[in-house]
This record gives sequence, structure tokens and C-alpha cells, in this order.
Amino acid sequence: MKVLVTGGAGYIGSHMVLCLLEAGHDVVVLDNLANSSAESLRRVEELTGKHPEFIELDLLDALGVDNLFASGAFDSVIHFAGFKAVGESVAQPLKYYHNNIVGTLNLLASMDKHGVRSLVFSSSATVYGASEEVPLIEKMPLDATNPYGRTKEQIEDILSDLGASDPTWRVALLRYFNPVGAHESGRIGEDPSGIPNNLLPFVAQVAVGRREKVMVFGNDYPTPDGTGVRDYIHVMDLAAGHLAALGYLGSHAGVFTWNLGTGNGSSVLEVIQAFGDAAGKPIPFEFAPRRPGDAAVSYADPSAALADLGWSAHRSLAQMCADHWRWQESNPNGYAAS
Ligand code: UD1
Repeated sequence: MKVLVTGGAGYIGSHMVLCLLEAGHDVVVLDNLANSSAESLRRVEELTGKHPEFIELDLLDALGVDNLFASGAFDSVIHFAGFKAVGESVAQPLKYYHNNIVGTLNLLASMDKHGVRSLVFSSSATVYGASEEVPLIEKMPLDATNPYGRTKEQIEDILSDLGASDPTWRVALLRYFNPVGAHESGRIGEDPSGIPNNLLPFVAQVAVGRREKVMVFGNDYPTPDGTGVRDYIHVMDLAAGHLAALGYLGSHAGVFTWNLGTGNGSSVLEVIQAFGDAAGKPIPFEFAPRRPGDAAVSYADPSAALADLGWSAHRSLAQMCADHWRWQESNPNGYAAS
């Protein structure tokens, strides 16, 4: 297949591009490099020996997107492109709604116009909000708690409405839990700009000496050790889930929703310990107040993806940390020096 990957130079996108190329697909990457580096794609090429075509383009450029589809002859699209910082979305909601929603609408309009009606969408477990019921199941009511999360929820709604209007659409809504880790080569990985918002990249930067210590947000949650519990999933398992979903859409029309998680929860302290074990050094940390909007516990019921797609995540937390560390240790400043 010829697959367009929006946001394909980013963290999850670059791992996806690698998996698509290895599976024998042709890949075109659309990315505006707002929060990513084209160096990731150069390294994907070095790892796979295959060339992903790269178009530097913003989804807000409706004409540019339409021109791409006019000549692209794509079979399917995997849509990662979007802003994703929760705190920034609270401070600048218009920026988030405009970029994520309008960008997606431009993409969908061109797909529809040019008859490309197969899409895998990068959604998030954030759409479940601070649900107190676990494990999280796809049919649970959605209740995103911040503008970023609401853009994910609203795009899910837009895609459901689109599917209802025209049964030829094939759409997979993939709700990721907490993607971490890196390709086992250590050549590509997560390279957040500025201070990382998420736990794993922050811990990794402490381990490599870029930051002094981890602030653990809350130690009074109703969890075994009092710290927040999340379902961390290896980015390569996540990419494999997309491939499985893409395959499913080849023989099923409609709009489908799947959680992509392991089904296991790990606490912040367990993650810090596992990362320290992988890096061979203790990770300094300090307890701090809870972060507003955080749920105590979040983990997936991933049984629907197993039943429908035959997919499940199999890499352990130890492997996630080992791979994340290999990337961080050999690229202490991410792609910046390259
Ligand atoms: C966060 C976002 C979510 C987004 C996801 C992936 C919030 C409220 N949620 O999820 O919308 O889809 O990232 O980008 O921001 N923690 C610390 N210290 C840190 C960082 C995190 O203790 O420096 C804790 C958190 O309190 C949480 C766990 O680590 O218990 C995981 O946090 P994080 O990696 O930010 O992921 P989520 O909060 O699950």
C-alpha cells in the first residue's frame, strides 16, 4: 500500500514509518516539523535501507494538502499530526482547537474529495478523562478534561459522523495509553522540545544528567505505593497495533475504536526503579503535590484489539526502559547535534 503518514517525523510517527517500510509499504510523510526533526527520517532510512518520501507541509495549508492528494494516489492515511501538550492547551486553547481540528478537517476534506477513505487516527486514553473505573473499556463515556484531550474527543466524533454519512469510510480510532521506549537500535526515539511534560522522557533526562531530579506528582493516591498508576506501552508495540488496524481496514468498512495498551498498570515509583535498573544508576526523585487533572489509576482493557486484530503488546516495562535508555544515552540531546 501507499500510506500517507501525517506527523511522521515525530516520536510515534517515525517508529510507525519504520514499521511500514519494513512491512513493505510505500510511505509518504507529511510533517511541518513544528515539534519534530527530519533527522528521524534520515535515521529510519539508515535502519531500513528504504526511503520514506518527506513533504514539509502544514495541514493548515488546505491548498497544499489538496495538491498532495491530487498527485499522491494514497491507499490510506495514518494521522498523527497535532499539538499534544496538555498544559499549553489550557493556556492557549484556540491554538489547539485551530491546529488540531482545522488541520484534521483539511485532511479529511481532501481525502474525501480524492476518494481516499481509509484512516487510522491517533487518539488517546486521555478521552476517558479522570475516570475512576478501571480497566478502561472502549464503550465507556468520554470526558476529556482539557482542550488537548477535547480535540482528540471531538475528532473522534467528527470521524464517527463521517462514517455514518458514508459507509465506504474505513476508520480506526486508536486510543493510546502511555507510549514510551524507542526502537531497539537506539537510533530513533522521543525528543521532546523544552522541559518534558511526560514521566518517561523526564526520567530519562535525569538519568543522562540533563536534569537534577524527578518530581513525583502526588504520593497520596489510593494506589499500592501512593503514586499514580499508568499503562505504559512500548512504542514499537504501539506501531505494530497500527499495522494490525490498517490490515483490518483492508477488509472492513466502518468506524472502529480500539484501546492500545498492555492492560497492566505501573506506578511512578515502579517506573523510576525500572529505569534506574536499566540505566545502572539510581534516579533521584522528590515527592511533590499532585498535578491538577491527573487520574489516580489508568490502564486499558486491551481485549477488543486482541479479539479483532489479533494484536497485543508484549514488551515488558524493563524492555521499555532499556530501549528508552539506549536512545537517551547515545543521543543525550536528542536529534539536536545531528
Ligand atoms: C499525559 C496527559 C495525557 C496525554 C499523555 C500523553 C495529563 C493530565 N495527561 O498523560 O493527556 O495524552 O500524557 O502525552 O497531562 N508524573 C510525575 N512526574 C513528572 C511527570 C509525570 O510524577 O514529571 C506522573 C503523573 O502524575 C502520572 C504519571 O507520572 O501519574 C504519568 O504521567 P505522564 O507521562 O504525564 O502521562 P499521563 O498523565 O498519563
